[in-house]
Amino acid sequence: MDSNIKIIAPSMLACNFGKLEDEIDLINKSEADWFHIDVMDGVFVPNISFGTPIMEVFKKHAKKTLDVHLMIVNPERYVQKFAELGSEILTVHLEASTHLHRTVENIKNNGMKSGVAINPHSPVSSLNTIIGDIDLVCLMSVNPGFGGQSFIENTYKKVEELKNLIEKTNSRALIEVDGGVNKENAKQLFDSGANVLVAGSSVFKSKDPISTISYLNSL
Ligand code: DX5
Ligand code: ZN
Repeated sequence: MDSNIKIIAPSMLACNFGKLEDEIDLINKSEADWFHIDVMDGVFVPNISFGTPIMEVFKKHAKKTLDVHLMIVNPERYVQKFAELGSEILTVHLEASTHLHRTVENIKNNGMKSGVAINPHSPVSSLNTIIGDIDLVCLMSVNPGFGGQSFIENTYKKVEELKNLIEKTNSRALIEVDGGVNKENAKQLFDSGANVLVAGSSVFKSKDPISTISYLNSL
């Protein structure tokens, strides 16, 4: 893994869905690297976001990598579908997939990069036996389900632990941090070893999303 990689991935959950094409265009024009797309089923998490019809809109208009975060039970059911919908990175929750190794292999066999997300309560050590097989770990820094929540401070420690695990095992996985990321904590996250910062509210609720992204990108 190239630990110098730094990627900004705005979470589209916080955008204005009433003008989705304009919001996608804003990210196309910004210095962001990826689109982070949160799919929630109302079962794994207490909220429902959107499904495949909205994903079609991203596929059609987005000009950057589609980083899809599935917060759904039994995500293996939809692997092929999201490949068809243009997902380049598909992340599933460790807590939601019983046969995680098979799911990860299936994601890669469908031509995508495979990501595994863990909830704030799940230890980094729960990744010990899968870290060598995946391209990305998404460390949840809030309890998944909603945008706009406060960042959980214990995440810095988890980033460092995960970085050690990745180095020890020669894994290629990137470290993504998702939830409550903002201008105040982003630098410390990068310094702790994070590679990808997902930012929803701090980007879309800011006065000037383009310059917020550009600031995050400059760290
Ligand atoms: C939370 C989602 C996050 C969320 C981030 O369940 O996975 O991607 O949209 O939003 P903010 O940055 O507002 O916490
Ligand atoms: Zn997410």
